[in-house]
Amino acid sequence: MEINGSTRIAVVIGHPIRHSLSPVMHNAAFKYLGLNNCYVAIDISPGGIEHFIRGLRYTNIIGVNVTIPHKAAVIPYLDELSEEAKILEAVNTIKITEEKVIGYNTDVYGFEKCLEDIDVPSCSALLIGAGGAGKAVAYTLSKLNVKSLYITNRTEERAKQLIQFINNVFNRKIEFIPFNQLETLKPVDIIVNATPLGMEGIKEELEIPSSIIREGTTAIDLVYNPPVTNFLKTASSLGAKTLNGIKMLVYQGITSFKIWTDLEPPVDIMEEALKGCL
Ligand SMILES: NC(=O)c1ccc[n+]([C@@H]2O[C@H](COP(=O)([O-])OP(=O)(O)OC[C@H]3O[C@@H](n4cnc5c(N)ncnc54)[C@H](OP(=O)(O)O)[C@@H]3O)[C@@H](O)[C@H]2O)c1
Repeated sequence: MEINGSTRIAVVIGHPIRHSLSPVMHNAAFKYLGLNNCYVAIDISPGGIEHFIRGLRYTNIIGVNVTIPHKAAVIPYLDELSEEAKILEAVNTIKITEEKVIGYNTDVYGFEKCLEDIDVPSCSALLIGAGGAGKAVAYTLSKLNVKSLYITNRTEERAKQLIQFINNVFNRKIEFIPFNQLETLKPVDIIVNATPLGMEGIKEELEIPSSIIREGTTAIDLVYNPPVTNFLKTASSLGAKTLNGIKMLVYQGITSFKIWTDLEPPVDIMEEALKGCL
């Protein structure tokens, strides 16, 4: 890719940001499509968010991805929010037009793609984790009308806040299961790990009782590095279908790419680029 005076940039902002795989994925797409664009990661500490977002309209930056810890902090400085960004109070994609700077949440679509082969309304689901990703997962499962939803989390209070949030949005019943009492559950159809347990660099693994998995359960780990976690290995040995976090990562990125460029992103190229650096 030749960088010259006409090259336009897209960026991901976070703090820290060096771990981000988004530059690899988006630069592969720009290159494949022959676009004179380049995607870079910018580390912005929290004190700089207002200046950065307010300044965007005066630049020719084509788009911004937002990651931890800025997904909520950018919101007050945007002109408009998509429906899902507004409900989840989390923005991971920003589009800059001449008139407006608009925030979107593409994590929901990314997770929705993970469920595309599943008849969600006939399923029971267990969500492990109640942080930012857990919120997007609980929202998506509820939006797709999952039959029953159980949420567990290390910190009970946070799980209960998430349950309250889902109740407010969808007016539905969700059961809290204490983190150390998962064996009280019957086997579920879908299990989602939305914690960093099992991730490269984290010593602890996600331990789940074998009694909650049966032949045909779908086990989804949002962790993508390593591609096969101990949780997925165990689930697979018990007859579960498994999916790691790569699909969600690719499809949230693909949706961002479409929002910025109005072009059809090269899905396979982006996925291969990601897998190549894991
Ligand atoms: N594949 C994708 O596209 C994608 C997208 C988003 C996130 N993710 C992954 O999803 C995971 C969660 O991300 P996030 O943004 O939701 O993070 P977050 O907002 O910081 O939430 C972390 C969650 O994990 C729990 N947790 C953390 N350490 C734990 C431990 N040692 N034992 C038990 N629970 C623990 C937290 O529980 P407490 O409430 O008790 O602290 C909380 O529920 C990360 O691994 C992230 O990389 C993947």
